[in-house]
Amino acid sequence: MFDLPDHEILQLTKDHVFFTWSAQAKVNPIAVRRAKGVYFWDVDDKRYLDFNSMTMCVNIGHGDERVIKAMQEQAAELPYAAPGMTTKIRALAAKTIAEVTPHQALTKILFTLGGADANENAIKLARGYTGRHKILTRYRSYHGATAGAMAATGDPRRVVWEPNLMTGVVHFLDPYRYRSNFHRNNNDISEQDFARDYLNHLEEIIQYEGPETIAAILMESVTGANGVIIPPDGYMQGARALCDKYGIVMICDEVMSGFGRTGKWFAVEHWDVVPDIITMAKGLTSAYAPLGAVAMKPEIAAAFNETPFESGLTYTSHPVSLAAAVANIQAMRDDQIVQRVAGMGPVLKRMLTDLGEAHPSVGEVRSIGLFGILELVKDRKTKEPMAPWNSSSPAMNALKKYCLDHGLFLYAHWHTVLVIPPLIISEEQLKEGIDILDKALEITDKETHG
Ligand SMILES: Cc1ncc(COP(=O)(O)O)c(C=O)c1O
Repeated sequence: MFDLPDHEILQLTKDHVFFTWSAQAKVNPIAVRRAKGVYFWDVDDKRYLDFNSMTMCVNIGHGDERVIKAMQEQAAELPYAAPGMTTKIRALAAKTIAEVTPHQALTKILFTLGGADANENAIKLARGYTGRHKILTRYRSYHGATAGAMAATGDPRRVVWEPNLMTGVVHFLDPYRYRSNFHRNNNDISEQDFARDYLNHLEEIIQYEGPETIAAILMESVTGANGVIIPPDGYMQGARALCDKYGIVMICDEVMSGFGRTGKWFAVEHWDVVPDIITMAKGLTSAYAPLGAVAMKPEIAAAFNETPFESGLTYTSHPVSLAAAVANIQAMRDDQIVQRVAGMGPVLKRMLTDLGEAHPSVGEVRSIGLFGILELVKDRKTKEPMAPWNSSSPAMNALKKYCLDHGLFLYAHWHTVLVIPPLIISEEQLKEGIDILDKALEITDKETHG
């Protein structure tokens, strides 16, 4: 459709594109031409196995014709309508999303463009609903890069923008067992007691801050980029109970953990908890088009029955994105993707465990569904990470390079390697990637001194 010789793509990109999260002089992007299933190809026709679903978002895999066709038909029929209007696809998308929420209890849907603005709107809703200001979030979290979502974010990406961010956010600690300072001499503590200790910590913070000032607790149900931290049993139930006790809105950020990633539609279902609000994006359309959503209980929406919700977006409910969402959810249902992931979860866990047993540089592996991580360490006893906090290291860079050179695209973050493939991946394809990783880990093994 648009002609440009391959060799000009990189140069024109360097001349004119400003990259996010990057020092401009150092960007070296892969020039992608096409993608299908769990693979993508660059302009030199080199094939990559996608072990990160691009940005942890192409949940149903690349090139699904059903989703593409739905978008094409919607674009031909009606590509856009104003936010105050409605369309067939808007009605259908909201109903379809409400149906997959836990116990179908989150019945009203506000559409956004992605995850950050979903969290921004969830915060506004909670503040409006409670008349309170403060938002509690965890340190090991990422909630998006707009000013409010960045303030909510706990990880170091927030720190560089301070102090010019949204006010009122208070952070607390994550139930992160492998590196829990409270329990470093007590590894045998039961899951229940461990959960209780971190809930007590949360309740202490609620008390210190004043429960009557706290609008919401916002948490990733399973922490994503900050370490695939899977809460111990009892933790999410306990957080729900604290929210009920103090009249606080429970918001689960399922931007990364939602839409089948963990073997449930939403990760919070593993603990049979119904939050008041769920934010979602990424897997909602499997990234075929940009879309986020805030699903809320009817009582939250009802707080705005007479008082207007003073916020909006030109592209809320964009029909082409909504068509992608409905077709994506339909494809997930038709192909029983969620059940499939529940079945593949133990397969990935075994493969990661095997890697952990074979390589001294693997300190711990964690996974739930097709959401996995390896924590790489220099010393298993001291747990000294393979790269310092919020940084990289020559060994981690070499591991990443080895994987890319050998056609495996994955996300290596600080001292961790994440395994977040499209949910349609087969056991053989998973093994294909794990075999490359197996060799790559020889690089980090050489750095161990345990
Ligand atoms: C848990 C979580 N929340 C929010 C976001 C922000 O989403 P977006 O980049 O679509 O704004 C992300 C993105 O990675 C995320 O992982």
